[in-house]
Amino acid sequence: MDVPRAGALLLAAALLVTGCAPEPGGAPPPSPEPAGTTSAPAAPPAPAPSAPAPPSAPAPPSGPATTAPGSAPTADPDPGPGAGPDVGPDPDVDLDDPASPGVVVNKQRPLDPEDWAPAALVDVEGELLRPEAASAVRGMLAAARADGVPIRIVSGYRSHAEQSATYAGWVAQKGREAADTVSARPGHSEHQTGLAVDVGDGSGCDLRVCFDATPTAAWVAEHGPAHGFVVRYPWGEHGTTGYWYEPWHLRYLGPERAQELVDSGAATLEEFSGLPPAPDYGPAAAG
Ligand code: DAL
Ligand code: ZN
Repeated sequence: MDVPRAGALLLAAALLVTGCAPEPGGAPPPSPEPAGTTSAPAAPPAPAPSAPAPPSAPAPPSGPATTAPGSAPTADPDPGPGAGPDVGPDPDVDLDDPASPGVVVNKQRPLDPEDWAPAALVDVEGELLRPEAASAVRGMLAAARADGVPIRIVSGYRSHAEQSATYAGWVAQKGREAADTVSARPGHSEHQTGLAVDVGDGSGCDLRVCFDATPTAAWVAEHGPAHGFVVRYPWGEHGTTGYWYEPWHLRYLGPERAQELVDSGAATLEEFSGLPPAPDYGPAAAG
């Protein structure tokens, strides 16, 4: 873990211990997770037998950072035209159709219709995914294991009903405001597209912020794009994505588009797609 990230984790833990509240209007409150990374995850009530347990690891606040941890601030306050990420809408990519591998789903962009379900799903090691994502994840798992990296699928497709139950479990445990930083409301989750997969290493940090420090997290961040997967909720980007850092949540875009995103320098799928930040739901969002 790099120094800035470790510092943020320590700060979050200290805030928790002291009970400090963040400044109004400042960063969202710290997760209880940093202080409890060695303890068993506190699972909310299981809302439904088929619903995966919500992750217990909302990431700690990263203050005003909007760049990846460890990245140096730019010394040039005006880098000039053309110096930013190579981003923007691609006329060949449908961002709206849930059936499109390029679809962007976030707090401002629900699936349409909200109870949309993939036409086909296939099993990969006990979890369902869209066929293209399933094939890619099989290749990724094999490549990681060939490199000696332990990896397993923790969660794949979740139906609208399963996401509804998962989200409700979070609300029951933490309240709605905190739930919204870690779990999507039904109709707003990438898991409902069948193109998102949560991975872990089975070491006790699955779906927890300590997963960030594992070789598995480093491997998927580096090699995931070659298999079509990107880390969808990067560190420090909650102001754009709407969620705390989830190093385990990978979104399938296809190898070409995933590599384009990386090469573009964009921090998020929203930025890469030329879409506005989605930190919050609109007033009409269901939950
Ligand atoms: N944890 C992600 C945001 C989801 O619920 O889809
Ligand atoms: Zn996920």
